Amino acid sequence: MSAANRSVSILGVTGSIGRSTIDVIEQVRARGGDVRVEAVTAGRNVAALADACRRLRPRFAAVADAGQLDEARTALAELNVEVGAGPSALEEAGARPADWVMSAIVGAAGLAPTMAAVRRGALIAIANKECLICAGPLMLKAAADSGAKLLPVDSEHNAIFQVLTHPARVERLTLTASGGPFRTWTREAMAAARPDQAVAHPNWSMGAKISVDSATLMNKGLELIEASYLFDTPEERIGVLIHPQSIVHSLVHYADGSVLAQLSAPDMRTPIAHALAWPDRVAVSTNRLDLAAISSLSFEEPNLERFPALGLARTALKAGPARVAALSAANEIAVEAFLSGQIGFLDISQIVEEAMATLEGTEAGLIAKTPSSFDEVAAVDRAARGAARRIAGRLAAA
Ligand SMILES: NC(=O)c1ccc[n+]([C@@H]2O[C@H](COP(=O)([O-])OP(=O)(O)OC[C@H]3O[C@@H](n4cnc5c(N)ncnc54)[C@H](OP(=O)(O)O)[C@@H]3O)[C@@H](O)[C@H]2O)c1
Repeated sequence: MSAANRSVSILGVTGSIGRSTIDVIEQVRARGGDVRVEAVTAGRNVAALADACRRLRPRFAAVADAGQLDEARTALAELNVEVGAGPSALEEAGARPADWVMSAIVGAAGLAPTMAAVRRGALIAIANKECLICAGPLMLKAAADSGAKLLPVDSEHNAIFQVLTHPARVERLTLTASGGPFRTWTREAMAAARPDQAVAHPNWSMGAKISVDSATLMNKGLELIEASYLFDTPEERIGVLIHPQSIVHSLVHYADGSVLAQLSAPDMRTPIAHALAWPDRVAVSTNRLDLAAISSLSFEEPNLERFPALGLARTALKAGPARVAALSAANEIAVEAFLSGQIGFLDISQIVEEAMATLEGTEAGLIAKTPSSFDEVAAVDRAARGAARRIAGRLAAA
């Protein structure tokens, strides 16, 4: 089915990825495409949800907070859209019969609605890496059972997906990373970094959580895990290269010495359009690449002493899916604590490291085994968040 005639749903329509997805859909519609929108969701931003509904005309709109049902109904009253609120409404948005679903809620909160779409065999554009990371093997098994196809939207994974022509002949993968806003900062300078500095990414305009993750390099650690799951590749065969220009989005190294890369200007509308049109392509106006103007591309090894989060993610990936889920959950709590001004920037990685060490002692059985159900994933997630909250509280009080 061509992208021009797809029905779509957007989980997280009010976020950075959600807004870029609206732009791509509007462009496809402006060129004559009949993209119908089944469902959209937001967290708490009802005004932005109403704006998205005005532009997209979905059949169903949901907010995460059950207490906002009346507010959402009032805001959407003129639009002839069914309105829901709370966790079951988010799941309904994923379960509704759209051909293609953009999974762009931030954090593990996106797991249940994304799984509702996975279970019914939809095409899933995966931007929300945390939901894949917290339940990777279970999600991949459910997708294999239902026939759902996961289309990577993270620019690095989308790049690999585009150039992965011979999976059996791959030697290794290289993920590129901009290095974030603190690429050249000393540890001493980073210790005093403020939230507004951490979210000021040099190349990408993104939500607050992923921007902080990019500053700690935890984002690259989470992407390493995401790549390992999506492309069935072990940790030791996935490298990371700092590439400050964010033009080469990732590389696949083949057994004959060939290295294939995907290049584009840093503009998320390109991977979103690729996922929307897959296996076709659509014409979309995005920032275009001008290599002569850029003139040179540079690459360097990441510094694991200044950015320990990447090493923590590698360790968790080697140790198994429950540790990976715990790492991501602890990181969500640490990033929230940093963004709300309770802790310093360097405390983020410290909290994750300490939370993992705590769980090795108190929850050894839980995190040693691969979760066999979503209830077990939830138990790991709760334990990790609890440990991280306690450590964050201690650091905030210090
Ligand atoms: N931005 C990028 O360029 C980029 C690139 C690659 C991957 N990603 C990934 O894509 C995901 C979204 O990133 P983003 O930058 O678009 O984030 P964002 O701008 O913060 O948007 C997050 C979206 O999730 C919603 N949301 C927040 N908390 C929620 C909850 N508890 N329950 C349900 N919905 C909730 C938000 O709603 P409200 O607006 O109402 O709060 C918003 O729609 C992340 O996993 C990120 O790692 C993003």
